[in-house]
Amino acid sequence: MNDRPLTHTAHQRLLPRLHEGDLAVDATAGNGHDTLFLARRVGVEGHVYAFDIQPQALEETGRRLQEAGMASRVTLLQAGHEEMERRLPAEVRGHLAAVMFNLGYLPGSDKQRVTTASTTLQALEQAVRLLAPGGLLSVLAYRGHPGGREEAEAVGERLSSLPGLAIEVLESPGPVLFLARKRGV
Ligand SMILES: C[S@@+](CC[C@H](N)C(=O)[O-])C[C@H]1O[C@@H](n2cnc3c(N)ncnc32)[C@H](O)[C@@H]1O
Repeated sequence: MNDRPLTHTAHQRLLPRLHEGDLAVDATAGNGHDTLFLARRVGVEGHVYAFDIQPQALEETGRRLQEAGMASRVTLLQAGHEEMERRLPAEVRGHLAAVMFNLGYLPGSDKQRVTTASTTLQALEQAVRLLAPGGLLSVLAYRGHPGGREEAEAVGERLSSLPGLAIEVLESPGPVLFLARKRGV
């Protein structure tokens, strides 16, 4: 899967929305690339909450953050992102500058531990509620693995049904990137 261009695009589009001191969520920590990107951007005054269901993913993310000296900026949560609203501190609600999803499976790992449409959609709805006005949701969805195309379509449909979002869809021959900005500023 050549996802490099769209992972890069997601970062580029998030950059102007993320500032020192911001709060952000990585809903699919995986190998920690997006978590590290968010941690760098929010700085020492900000904080990132990173979810993954696999201990292996959180270990790798933790290692990456340690190496970069940024572990204290991130809370790693071994939980499904569909638990996001319940697991995040109350003061975070309505104050997130960004929420990132990078769907699918952990590269080089068990392909059965894959995101699924039903939990992804629950998590997306929660993420939209948790975002600050003007906050940005990015969802990179892969379509090459079983269930991936259906999940990507479900994400597109759900996002366009939710009120108060300005949505952009960036296509590629492989994955698709959804960017949804919460209106309000
Ligand atoms: C494509 S990888 C994420 C890549 C990651 N963003 C990075 O920068 O390396 C997808 C991840 O989603 C995780 N995952 C699957 N179902 C999940 C769920 N319900 N909640 C949170 N993470 C989940 C998988 O364990 C896997 O690590």
